[in-house]
Parts: sequence; C-alpha cells; structure tokens
Amino acid sequence: MLIFGIETSCDETAVSLIQRGATNSVIAEKIKSQIPLHAEYGGIVPEIASRTHLEVIDTLTESVLKKSKQKMNDIELIGVTQGPGLIGSLLVGLSFAKAISFREKIPLVPVDHIHSHIESVFIDHPDIEYPLVALVVSGGHTSLFYQVSKFETQLIAKTRDDAVGEVMDKIAKFYGLPYPGGPILDGLYGSGDPHRFSFTIPRMSDGSNDFSFSGYKTAVLRYTRQHKLTRDNQLFRDLVSSFLYSVIGYLVSKTESAVKNHSVKSVIVAGGVSRNSLLRKKFKEAFQSKNIPLYLPSPKQCTDNALMVAWLAYETYMKFPDRNYFDFHINAYSRAAFRENKKHR
Ligand code: KG4
Ligand code: ZN
Repeated sequence: MLIFGIETSCDETAVSLIQRGATNSVIAEKIKSQIPLHAEYGGIVPEIASRTHLEVIDTLTESVLKKSKQKMNDIELIGVTQGPGLIGSLLVGLSFAKAISFREKIPLVPVDHIHSHIESVFIDHPDIEYPLVALVVSGGHTSLFYQVSKFETQLIAKTRDDAVGEVMDKIAKFYGLPYPGGPILDGLYGSGDPHRFSFTIPRMSDGSNDFSFSGYKTAVLRYTRQHKLTRDNQLFRDLVSSFLYSVIGYLVSKTESAVKNHSVKSVIVAGGVSRNSLLRKKFKEAFQSKNIPLYLPSPKQCTDNALMVAWLAYETYMKFPDRNYFDFHINAYSRAAFRENKKHR
C-alpha cells in the first residue's frame, strides 16, 4: 500500500511517501525546516509558521511525487497530523489532506502527534514487544505512557508547566542563543562541570506523578541574574552542564519508576529531545543494567517528520478497518487528547 504522510504541527513542513504491506520501505521524504525563520525571534512565531506551511506544502508534495515517479491518484492512504500543535499550522496540513482525500477518493487517517513520535521508533524496530513504557520529550510535550498494545495507552505522567525542550530553548534564548536551544546546550555539555551546581528534583506537593520543569528554568535564570553570568564565562558552561545532568537524571528516574510499577518488556524514548547525546547515553546505561530493551528513534526520526505520520496511519487503518476514513468534519486540536487517560484510541 502506498501511503502519503503530512506533518505540519509546528515548525517543520514535512511530507513522505512510504510503502507498507508485503514490503516496508521509505519511497521519498521532504522536510522544509523553518528554523532559520524563527531563530531570530528566539522561538516559534505561530503566524510565520502557518504562512510558511501554506507556501511550501504543495511544492513539497509535487517534489516527492516527482522523485518517486508516482501520481497523486496512485496514493492509497493519506496520514495527517491532527494535533496537538499550533492550530494555524495543523489546519494547513489537515485542509490540504482533506482536499486530496476528497478529490482523489483516498482514505484519510488523522493521527495524534505524540503517538506518532512513539511510532517513529517502530520504523527501525518493528518487533518491539509490549507492554512498554514510552517517554515523549519534545519542545511541546513531556509525557510518560504505559502501552499494553499500540492502541491501548494509559497516561502515567505529563508536565504541569513547560516541556523539557521548551525549558532548554528558553534558557538558551535568555543567553542570546538562537532557537532551538536544545541542540546548542547539547553541544556545550562536556565543556562544563556537570557537578558544579545541584538542582532540587521536582516533587508535586499534591502527590501527583506529573513532571515539572519550571523550577529548573527559574533556578538557572535566577543564578544567571544574581551573578551577571554571560556566555563567555566558564560558570555558564558549568551551569548548563549541571542543568542537563540533573534534568536528564530526573527523566531517567521517572521512567525507571514507571517501569518498576508496571510489568514491561520494552522502553521507548522519543521526540526532539531524545536526540540529546547525554540523554541517549544515560538511558542506555540505566536500562542496559536492568536488562530491559531500550529503543530510541534514529537521530533523523527524533524531530518532527512525516514518516512517523504515514507509519502510524497505516497501523491505524489496518487495526480499525471499519472506521470512516472520509470524515471531513475532523478538526485540528491544540491540546493532547492522547495526554488524557484514554485507553483505546
Ligand atoms: O519533536 P520536536 O521536533 O517538536 C515538537 O513536537 O516539539 O522537538 C523539538 C525540540 C526543541 O525544543 C529542540 O530544542 C529539541 O527538540 N532538541 C533537542 C536536541 N535536538 C532538538 N534538545 C536537546 N538536545 C538535542 N540534541
Ligand atoms: Zn514533535
């Protein structure tokens, strides 16, 4: 089956064409990153994001079709990110997908962005065993899930405030570094002393299992202001390295306790922040010693892409063949329905 995937939830316009069924292969993929457009603002400007999706989505589509020598009506299934994300951005991809689906009579599968990040790991590792614990860490989300199967999901914890990637981006912005800050801080780790500063590990006063990252942000910014720290100061490198060391330790220990409290055969970590080198190292160390297989996406699959969307669309279509895939009333959503404790999706 030839599947066309579309992802426009945030600041990447991505389309993909994959083959699933007897053979599974990536036929073509195009991503137009908007990072240079948002970098000077220190974060994503939603209006610029949706406008840029609108400008490039059809040319990207034409280009994957041309590259793969396929025509629009050769496509047998369309997958599109429905949410969560920026509404204006999501609507560009969703409306484009609906139009193709309607005109060419191709079934349209809306997919959840967070779920598709989890699915990204299955592209290279199709045999991951359930039940599993999945941590999704990105610029918009930090959530921990327990999955009995691909479509039976329980939310274990979500962030109460900022997402972990968002805090990295904000710290970098505070120091005048361009968006996205996550990869820049990643590159700085190693040039500073990760034990120079210690951070209080967040605990919810109401006993909830949720994450919180705003305390990290406040602590870094407060110290920076108090000591008038700038980027050329060694203490800045120590502070960044200590922050990364602590926040990643926090993610590891929350995942470890989720694994302890559930019976699991595998652990997944996905989303943009799963590209972080210290995170990959620390998670590997933690789960290797417990003999629990850990799966991370390939670095290319960590950040937003349309391959994971097409992949999940196919899985959904095969699992729920009787759903209405010509429902043009579907709408984009900004908040994660997947975040809620929905067992069956
Ligand atoms: O998954 P993603 O592309 O978009 C969202 O769904 O949010 O994730 C983007 C986030 C940004 O916060 C970015 O700073 C972070 O992923 N990121 C990283 C690294 N590469 C991207 N964070 C830490 N280390 C990295 N190497
Ligand atoms: Zn994402």
